[in-house]
Amino acid sequence: MAKITPSFEIEVETIDNDHRRLVDFTNQITAAIDDQQYAECARLVPDFIALSKRHFAREEALLDKFDYPGIDQHRQHHAGLDDKMETMLTLAGRVEDNRLARETLRREVFFFLMDDVINEDMDFKKFLVDARSKEK
Ligand SMILES: [Fe+2]
Ligand SMILES: [Fe+2]
Repeated sequence: MAKITPSFEIEVETIDNDHRRLVDFTNQITAAIDDQQYAECARLVPDFIALSKRHFAREEALLDKFDYPGIDQHRQHHAGLDDKMETMLTLAGRVEDNRLARETLRREVFFFLMDDVINEDMDFKKFLVDARSKEK
């Protein structure tokens, strides 16, 4: 009987785990704002951004390994998020004494996660599922 190669499973699992952790971070950042734990919020955001960057690099390596045809486009999509990530870091530095910064940060983090991280990855999801089925 054909088997899925363990390496593929582990790598895709790594990507899914990253996404889960990024969702957790987003929830924690939102909760910190709601609970007026602004120092906690300011502490979480740089970790969220650092994980996002590591995640993008891991994802690009995986797409490269499986010769995803749209890799250049997806790489550019990730690179195009640098400004947004810088903005979130700047806002995080202002949350303690600035209500507008808090509300803007809350929105930015949420839409970054939903649109830029999760939704944009739908483009290669089908490709990876197909690549996996070929390994069986
Ligand atoms: Fe991703
Ligand atoms: Fe991505």
